[in-house]
Amino acid sequence: MESTEYDDSGAWDVELNEKDKTNVEKALEVEVSNNIFYKCASTKTPELDGQKIFKILAKVEGEHASVWKKILKLDKVDFPKYDKCAAEYKPNLEESHSREDRAIKFYSQAAVDAESARVKEIFEAFVEVETDHLHLSEARLK
Ligand SMILES: [Fe+2]
Ligand SMILES: [Fe+2]
Repeated sequence: MESTEYDDSGAWDVELNEKDKTNVEKALEVEVSNNIFYKCASTKTPELDGQKIFKILAKVEGEHASVWKKILKLDKVDFPKYDKCAAEYKPNLEESHSREDRAIKFYSQAAVDAESARVKEIFEAFVEVETDHLHLSEARLK
């Protein structure tokens, strides 16, 4: 699994209407929340397979957060400390599944609603990446 599935060489100077700005701000929150969850899960999950997967997922969600940060022209993004993940693999996989499912649904709608072509393109690209993430937990929850 590649950690950098999104080509971030594109332009960052994007005009955002109100709706796009609201959705991008929400997307940033989603990515930060998922990043800190995966960081937690990567340290608390006893199984090495889980530690590895959650660590990679934390990295990817962190990269997604930094894409939204650039679009929003923010100087910095706060990643709060978080320790509310489970100490077992299965519940963390289940939480991963519901988090990715939520992200996919929100990003799909945000892509449809996007006025900015660039924002639409990023939401669409992220739907694909998050769908890969969903499959990781799905395969392991079988
Ligand atoms: Fe993401
Ligand atoms: Fe994801």
